[in-house]
Amino acid sequence: MRAVRLARRGLKGRVSVPGDKSISHRAALLAALAQGTTQIANFSSSADCRSTLNCLSALGTDIIIKDNLVVIEGKGLDGFRPAAGMLDAGNSGSTMRMLAGILAGQSFESVITGDESLRLRPMNRIAIPLRQMGAEVITSEGGYAPLRIRGGRLCPIEYTLPVASAQVKSCVLLAGLYADGVTAVYEPVPTRNHTEIMLKEFGAAVEVSGAGVAVRGYPRMRACDYVVACDISSAAFLIAAAVLLPDSDLTLVNVGVNPTRRSFIDLLLSWGAQIELLNLRFVHGEPVADVRVQSSVLRADSLSRSISGKVIANLIDEIPILAVIATKVEGGVCVRDAAELRVKESDRLRYIVDNLRAMGVEVTEYADGFEIERPQKLRSAKVVTAQDHRIAMAFTIAGLLADGETLIDFPECVAVSFPSFYDTLDEVLSYAD
Ligand code: S3P
Repeated sequence: MRAVRLARRGLKGRVSVPGDKSISHRAALLAALAQGTTQIANFSSSADCRSTLNCLSALGTDIIIKDNLVVIEGKGLDGFRPAAGMLDAGNSGSTMRMLAGILAGQSFESVITGDESLRLRPMNRIAIPLRQMGAEVITSEGGYAPLRIRGGRLCPIEYTLPVASAQVKSCVLLAGLYADGVTAVYEPVPTRNHTEIMLKEFGAAVEVSGAGVAVRGYPRMRACDYVVACDISSAAFLIAAAVLLPDSDLTLVNVGVNPTRRSFIDLLLSWGAQIELLNLRFVHGEPVADVRVQSSVLRADSLSRSISGKVIANLIDEIPILAVIATKVEGGVCVRDAAELRVKESDRLRYIVDNLRAMGVEVTEYADGFEIERPQKLRSAKVVTAQDHRIAMAFTIAGLLADGETLIDFPECVAVSFPSFYDTLDEVLSYAD
């Protein structure tokens, strides 16, 4: 349990958040598939990325971890050995879904499982294309983990994603590394494109055209020293607090601002937020900037109050904190087309709505979203996180805006993506005293 009190002053200072979780997973996986030694700097400190490293170790990869530097001895595409037991992806959907693509290319059988939350998340979305490629994938009843996977040399496919999911896209592309020929994935809506950018960095032949990404099987992948940008999805919580609290002037350094990830910032800008992207540069094909945020008044017009369609995929992880911000937007906010949130680490729409209501907010729940009509006062409450890291962090920020003492029931779950969240928050809040 953690108590959060009303903050009367804003956030100040210059801080960094951990390395990007999505990019770190991919860097570890591709480093393990490459020939040679890869050093990954600013590797995410998240429990999720640790799950990826643990699975790769269990498959015979030598990994040295020194703080946020991770050194991986690449095994090449065919160098893994069967794990002694079940692979454990913990809470991490990215680990399970992306690693499944690689396991489908191995001639030995692997079983991959996860925690209670992950075992409730849909896995048919990866089992179906992997089976089409010739792998054997056995799920538990209904299409859930544990997954039993055996494959080998796969057939290339052309696959149109039925759901907008970068994890599924990446799973098929990674399996495509083990296919004779070109595997192509088409997406109805663009999703984060870190896999395609990074495959090129590691020497694979990738082509991006329109809504499609194609990869040629059996590339020669070479080790590549990699520096991970800081995680915009973790920065989002601090950006929100800085925008909403008075007298803030906060700079988050080295934040990844890939166009497929930065819609949260673009949306806040459209509502009048004072956010600047400074020192914009490219690192390993990924745009990176220092993000300066000042206290702002937010106003949505009839167009910008409605968040739906294509943009949802590009701010899917930021919707819990967006919901908290929405309680302070003149003109209101309506989120639709976001039913995917119901199958994340928790049913996020449910916990967003329940916790907002507990804090006194009038909110309408839809099957695929929610609506808040006007700015509202927050009152302190007991927040139910469902052990979901992004719910915990979003409602910690809500607690800074609420009168009284807000209690977070499971604050330690922030370790899933941002273990230093409370320390970083204390640091930037104390600069303001
Ligand atoms: C991720 C993709 C998204 C996102 C998750 C990370 C990734 O999931 O919610 O936190 O790294 O590819 P989906 O692909 O299921 O939408």
